Formats: sequence, C-alpha cells, structure tokens
Amino acid sequence: MSVVLGVETSCDETSAAVIRGAGDEASLASLVILSQDVHRVFGGVVPEIASRAHLTAIEPVVRRALDDAGVATDEIDAVAVTNGPGLVGALLVGVSFAKALAFALGRPLVGVHHMEGHLFAAALEHPGAVPPFTALLVSGGHTMLIDVEAWGRYRLLGRTRDDAAGEAFDKVAKLLGLPYPGGPHVERLAASADAPGPRFARPMLKRNQRPGDADYYDVSFSGLKTAVLHAARSAATDAERARVARAFQDALIDTLVEKTARAVRAFGRTRVVLGGGVAGNRTLVAGMRDRLAPGGVTVYAPGARLATDNAAMIARAGLFHFERGERAGLDLNAFATLDLPGLLVA
Ligand code: KG4
Ligand code: ZN
Repeated sequence: MSVVLGVETSCDETSAAVIRGAGDEASLASLVILSQDVHRVFGGVVPEIASRAHLTAIEPVVRRALDDAGVATDEIDAVAVTNGPGLVGALLVGVSFAKALAFALGRPLVGVHHMEGHLFAAALEHPGAVPPFTALLVSGGHTMLIDVEAWGRYRLLGRTRDDAAGEAFDKVAKLLGLPYPGGPHVERLAASADAPGPRFARPMLKRNQRPGDADYYDVSFSGLKTAVLHAARSAATDAERARVARAFQDALIDTLVEKTARAVRAFGRTRVVLGGGVAGNRTLVAGMRDRLAPGGVTVYAPGARLATDNAAMIARAGLFHFERGERAGLDLNAFATLDLPGLLVA
C-alpha cells in the first residue's frame, strides 16, 4: 500500500492528485484541476502564459490536493510528475516543483509519460479497465491506437498522420464560430442537428486495407477538416451549422470506431479502453459500444473529469512505475516529444 502524489502541468491545467493503493487496487484520495481559462480569449493555449500560470498555481493546487486527501507531506511515498510530452515551459514548472518536494521529503521521484497517464485514467473508475485491452487515446495533441498486453507493454498500432482528434474538434469549432476548447461545443451542436447533414468522406477507411498495410490502423483528419471548411462556409443558418457539426463528428467517430474494431479483432481482445479529452465525447463512447458490445467487447471510458488532463492518471501510472522500482534522478528533464515507455517493436 503506497501513497502517491501526482503532478501534471503539461498543457493548460495545473493539477495535483493523491492516490492510495497497491497494484490495480488503487483509489483516488483527492484530485484538484485548475483550468487556465485565460487562453480562451486567444482561441488556443499560449505557452508562456501557461508556464507563468502554472508557476503561481502549482503550490496552492498541490497543498489543496494533500488537504483534501487528509495526507501529510511525510505520508507521501513517491512523487510522480509528467515530464513529457507537452509544452516544455509548462512541464518544467511541474517537474521542478516535484523535484524540490521529493528532495525536501527525501522521497523518490517518478517521471510519467503524459499519454501513459491517459491509458491509466479509466482504471481509476472502472476496476475492469485493466490489461489486456485495446486502447484508443484521443487527446488534443495525440491520437494513438495501442494494444496493451500488460501495463508497461505497449504495441503502437496506429496514429494520426496529421491532426489529432481533439485538434480536429478544436479547428472545426473555430470554423463554426464556437469557443475554445471546441470539443464539447461541437458535440453539443451536433446533438442539436435535425438531420445527418452532408456525408463527408471517411478518412483512411478503405475496404481493401489489410493488416500490415501502413494505413490499416492510422488515421488522418486534415482532409475532413478541409471538407468541413467548405461546408461551414456555405452553412448560413444555425440549423445548417449543426448538421455540419454532426456530419464531421459522424465521420470522425466512424473512422475511430472502425480502426479500433480492427485492432480488437487482430489481437482477440475483449476490452477497449478509451482515454484523452475526446474520450469524454459521449457520442464516441456510444458509437464504440454499439459497434463492439454485440461481439462481447466491453468498452471503458473515463468520465469527463478523468478523460481530460488531470494528475490522478499521472499518480496512477506513477504508482505502477514506483512499484516496479523505477526512480527518476533529480536531473529529470522535460521533453516536448517523448516515446511511450515500454513500446514493443514489431
Ligand atoms: O487530453 P486532453 O485534456 O489534453 C491533451 O492532452 O491534449 O484533451 C483535450 C482535447 C481538446 O482538443 C478538446 O477539444 C477535446 O479534448 N475534448 C473533446 C470533448 N471534450 C474535450 N472533444 C470532443 N468531444 C468532447 N466532449
Ligand atoms: Zn492529455
């Protein structure tokens, strides 16, 4: 039984969390997420503003997480911190803070890959969301289809060739005149559509694709975005814009569901775990269940709070690495891009 403090500052949420547990029996003791609303006025995250906001928020956010959990600093067994991928200036704040805390407490520091954190998020809410499973990670910066044989043993099957799924939502939101971050707004607008709208081509979905083809698992959303751009220009009414949002979301979801179904079939998995901000999209989760449940596959998705960036998932992934005896030195660095640890080749 260990107590792990998690710290996450890779983008525009300053977050800290405490978890207690051992192995897959881990429970959330507290989670604080401070979203930096300041970026809304710029329509996207401004890196230097994000770093500075982390700098002022990190101490009170961590203190609040410890208070909420009723955990004293000397009860912390390890400090887990996101050290990539992400905005380097933003990551440096969390990494430096976590180092200082670990050093002061004389406790180990564990570096966590942000996307591995997303893989663990659903497990915090659903005891069944544990390996082996097929994972679809859909965030603002990444789209990855991964076969998870065990925690720490990841086979990267597919990724996006251009825009990440969340990025596509954000860009389409902008085209439709919706605020940033756009995902939830596009989902809401799509739900209000009175008809399916124009049928956009399904990117990277062709019947003749075979396992082993480079495009069997990969996705691409830039063509879809261009199609939306043209449709949005000629959409004059709110009803028309709603149909465009729905058509976009339908095409994107169809693609993600089909690629995930291919991976489930190829590896004979009976569980699918979704992660990342776009996993908070109820239409995506429902589409995944409609397609896979009849074949006996259970689809797990974190709730909206754990789907988007948060430190609970970082603490949970950190617990796994801590229990394996992994320790980061006080020279731990931050990285804008970083390979997922435990990637299996071929
Ligand atoms: O995982 P996340 O919080 O941050 C990154 O690691 O990038 O994901 C943020 C992304 C944004 O692009 C946001 O628009 C998208 O997740 N998102 C959604 C929904 N909620 C958040 N996209 C579609 N539907 C949603 N309900
Ligand atoms: Zn994320």
